[in-house]
Amino acid sequence: MGNNDQVSSIVKSIKMGSVPFSVLIFLTFTRTTSINYLITYRYHFSSSHSLQITPIARPHNLTLSMSSSTTQTKTVLILGATGKQGGAVINNLLASSIDFDIIAVTRDTSSTTARKLASRGVTVIAGNLSDPASIFARAGRPIWGVFGVQVNSGAEEQQGRTLVDAAVSHGVRHFVYSSGDRGGPEESAVNPTGVQNFAAKYHIEKHLEARAAFSAQGMTYTVLRPVTFFENLTTDRHGLGFARMWEQLGDKKLQLVSTADIGWFAAQSFLGPEDPRYRNAALTLVGDELTQPEGDAIFTKIVGRAMPMAPCVVGSVVKWVFKDTAGDMFAWFKEHGYGGSVSECRSIYPKMQDFRAWMEENKGLWVKAEN
Ligand SMILES: NC(=O)c1ccc[n+]([C@@H]2O[C@H](COP(=O)([O-])OP(=O)(O)OC[C@H]3O[C@@H](n4cnc5c(N)ncnc54)[C@H](OP(=O)(O)O)[C@@H]3O)[C@@H](O)[C@H]2O)c1
Repeated sequence: MGNNDQVSSIVKSIKMGSVPFSVLIFLTFTRTTSINYLITYRYHFSSSHSLQITPIARPHNLTLSMSSSTTQTKTVLILGATGKQGGAVINNLLASSIDFDIIAVTRDTSSTTARKLASRGVTVIAGNLSDPASIFARAGRPIWGVFGVQVNSGAEEQQGRTLVDAAVSHGVRHFVYSSGDRGGPEESAVNPTGVQNFAAKYHIEKHLEARAAFSAQGMTYTVLRPVTFFENLTTDRHGLGFARMWEQLGDKKLQLVSTADIGWFAAQSFLGPEDPRYRNAALTLVGDELTQPEGDAIFTKIVGRAMPMAPCVVGSVVKWVFKDTAGDMFAWFKEHGYGGSVSECRSIYPKMQDFRAWMEENKGLWVKAEN
């Protein structure tokens, strides 16, 4: 019986008044932390119509470890594998003590990045986000875990939903979805925002929660909600434009994170899917929070010259021309802003990079650009 059939059969049973039956319902418990625990409760209706509530997932040992049932090699499918986040997930999985069977998806298996992945022992397959079913077919073996990420486009929500559907119907056990923060754990859970790609992520999250709850295999999931990437600061025109739009936020601080750290959290989730910090949970990931002048002071100290920026008019024109993306996003940064907690992230991962650490590691980019 397919998952949709199972759901409709449950609904039918409810309508027909056939008892006893159990329904899985999600309750959102929000702590005053960046980590939003979603705890699944089973509501059991007995024939006397009394209601029993029993937690299925109860926070237990906070130490990360692979669960005992997981000694055989797990296959993990990585979307966006040649990109910043997917690449970082692969780096962290390869560096872990567990031997994962990693399948990387790309549209072009002959690219330099794809070939580099293959040379590191990763299976590289061709696939397109527009057709997740064929990705699973091409993988050719059961997939235990999926790292899902989409690119910003009008199709983002649809591509995210169909990836979740394909994962559920292929028996995937754990799904890590890289979404984006929308104002902290409480706000993100209820507010799609008016920014197009933020709203798409909100709806994908809701779809993932719902499909996982009713999946035959009891698929678990982790939603990662990163803030703006340090990696937007590049030496090309995109980086110059980003620096200017950051500067145009004035004294409003922008929360930032390194994509390497997103990869660390995703890998931890695959290593410990039962850990209550990751099991059916959402985490806002943030490594630093700065105004552009504060960032510039660090940049200048490390690189020896001021952070390069596009002319002021370019920042304004970009936001006007790309109103639905950059324009709405920077307006939201100015009026609302992300709501992560650096200290809480660092309490989980003390090596979480701040801007200074990220600049120290990446200063070579600007030295190279100068020569
Ligand atoms: N930039 C930020 O500050 C920021 C902050 C929070 C969230 N995000 C979100 O991060 C996501 C992008 O992640 P990223 O920056 O890690 O990606 P990225 O570095 O831009 O790389 C894009 C990846 O997606 C793959 N890809 C693109 N189109 C595809 C398609 N049609 N089918 C299959 N694969 C496709 C590319 O692979 P191939 O080219 O090899 O096929 C590549 O691996 C977006 O949803 C964005 O909203 C960004």
